[in-house]
Amino acid sequence: MIRQIKKSGGQYFYIGNGAVCCMLKIAYGKAQLLHLGAPLSEDDCEALCCETVLGWEPGVLYREGDTRSCLDELPLAWSERGTGDYRETPVGLLYEGTEICPDFVWSSAGEVNTEEYDAVLPHARGAQETVKLVFTSSNRLLEGLTLELRFSLFETALVRQAVLINRSDKPLKVMKLMSACADLQGSFMVSTFDGGWIREAHIHTVPVTRSRVANGSAGGFSSNRHNPGFLLSRPGVSDDAGEVYGFNLLWSGNHYSSVQRSSVGFTRVLQGISPDGLCLDLLPGGRIETPEAVAAWSGRGYNGLMENMHRFVNESVIPEAWRYQERPVLYNNWEGCMFKFNEGKLLSLAKKAKKIGCELFVLDDGWFGERDNDQAGLGDYSVNRRKLPNGLEGLSKKIHDLGMQFGLWFEPEAVNPDSDCFRQHPDWVLSSPGTGPFYARNELLLDLTKPEVRDYIVESVSAILDKADIQYVKWDMNRNSPVSGNKAYEYILGLYDVLHRIFDSRPRILLESCASGGNRFDLGMLCFSPQIWASDDTDPVERLDIQNGLYYLYPQSTIGAHVSAAPHGVTLRATPMSTRSNVAFFGDFGVEFDLDSMKPVDEAELKETIAYYKQHRKTFQFGRFSRNGTEEGTLCWQVSDGEKTFCGLFHKLIPAGPEIEWLRVNGLDPDRTWHVEARSQLLRVGAYGSLLRFATPVPLDTEGTIIRLADRHYQMRDGGFSAECSGAALQSGIPLGKRFTGTGYDASLRVQGDFQSNVFCIVPKT
Ligand code: DGJ
Repeated sequence: MIRQIKKSGGQYFYIGNGAVCCMLKIAYGKAQLLHLGAPLSEDDCEALCCETVLGWEPGVLYREGDTRSCLDELPLAWSERGTGDYRETPVGLLYEGTEICPDFVWSSAGEVNTEEYDAVLPHARGAQETVKLVFTSSNRLLEGLTLELRFSLFETALVRQAVLINRSDKPLKVMKLMSACADLQGSFMVSTFDGGWIREAHIHTVPVTRSRVANGSAGGFSSNRHNPGFLLSRPGVSDDAGEVYGFNLLWSGNHYSSVQRSSVGFTRVLQGISPDGLCLDLLPGGRIETPEAVAAWSGRGYNGLMENMHRFVNESVIPEAWRYQERPVLYNNWEGCMFKFNEGKLLSLAKKAKKIGCELFVLDDGWFGERDNDQAGLGDYSVNRRKLPNGLEGLSKKIHDLGMQFGLWFEPEAVNPDSDCFRQHPDWVLSSPGTGPFYARNELLLDLTKPEVRDYIVESVSAILDKADIQYVKWDMNRNSPVSGNKAYEYILGLYDVLHRIFDSRPRILLESCASGGNRFDLGMLCFSPQIWASDDTDPVERLDIQNGLYYLYPQSTIGAHVSAAPHGVTLRATPMSTRSNVAFFGDFGVEFDLDSMKPVDEAELKETIAYYKQHRKTFQFGRFSRNGTEEGTLCWQVSDGEKTFCGLFHKLIPAGPEIEWLRVNGLDPDRTWHVEARSQLLRVGAYGSLLRFATPVPLDTEGTIIRLADRHYQMRDGGFSAECSGAALQSGIPLGKRFTGTGYDASLRVQGDFQSNVFCIVPKT
């Protein structure tokens, strides 16, 4: 509900529903933020007004003689330097080379209709209501300069956005324009999601203090270094209890957010595009629309926040055609082949992928130009006939004849210097004036700010999509940008234009965004691409941290998660197939290793596993996600659709003589009786190592032919478990079956070596 309330004390705005609430007061013409967070009643607005009286300190009064008008001490929803607020401000303008304060004052409020939105910037869709508060500059030189603060209420989140419109006759330079500003009361911890290539989205939490914490990116991406999403939580918050705010941004380029506690105890939160090097022209008649900034709130700890964030993304960000649509189980040939393949090899892989239950075959890098390694071919779209003599159409037809869908990898934003594209258009390359070129992965970026470059990409990619009967596209991007500031900002606008032009008219193509893994895992890309390749690190133990971090902000359905080879290609860690699968269950499941070298036992296990996933994928991809309090060293992910619930219990290093383990399940009807069943898993004979010598009638060499042969063809059942009990008992925890401590195999024993895991299915007792 959005309401404008007039009281004797002033003008108020109430924007709230059962999940989030924001209250504003117009005071001195400025937007005071009375409240953002817990759902409150509009009747509380006057009680929330915060007044400070300036004494002898050197604070500046906005209205001379009015000692309550020190903006530095008030909670604000917007602010400008030059009005007496000395905290970090969301806007910076230059006029004739000098910083100028627009001193915006409120003029009106109104509705926003969708035609008013920038056509290129991605937007969340399906707001319950939207209001814009319009402020005009009271600076004598800037008459007509207008700021709109838009507030859109969604079922589980609030979206804010700032729009600057130059109706003055003065040309301005915009050095900084944040999407949103908020001052929140009380103490907080701030959590950011940081990392790098193959270690994305690791959560880091520090207290919010008087020193500023800045979370930003500079490489031209939303980045794997610092995701644009972050959390503010009250000290002591847990998975199930306490107050948490989640913030995010619909933007895929350089971003900036900051939090800092002020001298009177407000935490200022800014979110927006990075102002680093920015100097945008805002000419008379021009306007700049900032990306949408998201705020969600939970009073039920992280689990409540994840529920709100996930619903917002699933319902308002993901392209409509893919909303709550089950994602296919895919096979991707990258980790299995890299650049070394031909049609015969691909078809052999596709047949095996089909046999184990994959539905979509994805041909990754290396199908075009002279692409036998990463040194040539990027930028070219001619098919490599040495590898694919029948072209993409021929391959696609054969894949379809097998009963699979066909998907293709592109990296359209980059070129190798050794490519026809670069030889013909060396001037299309993105560079910073007077320096470079600086290479990364032997690549240069194309300048997406140039219309002719965008046309080339749109025409080349579209032609292939239309010719080769393609159902899925992996859109990759593998290097940091050589530019910053305006050029980096305009590059992302160019990228959005290209994505609109290719995919708006092809809504049934499933787009999976990728940037060296999760270098562009953000809400901007999710507006086009329902899922994103989360990381090139498919080691399930590493994925526990990566996916666990992403879940705070993004639902399972957005996270590409594949089963790959063990020992793993980047960590050399050997993990059981069951754990590789169990981790991938909590995302968009895929398979990515050389199936031609798959052992018969792995084939049988994967086939069983994929059938299980397909049977329950709606719950895995779209069920309500939560985490269960578990013991140190273990992690428990839960997804539930109300009827069916799955819990994944994951271990990293196993202590010797482990304690009894308990399964706890959140949120089930406490009075109903539930049936719990562990997913049936297999155990390699070789896992027992030299212990086998005591179990066989004659001692066998554990490295010898017999054991190796047994390991290829025979597996034992591991960790069978079932129980029946009330939802209340499950909430409190039920003990799981015994774990291996040196002896005594039977099918219900849980052989919990390092990196073992189980998935439990909980359904109502029939
Ligand atoms: C980086 C991606 O993250 C990988 O999955 C793969 O597509 C390679 N690029 C191909 O070059």
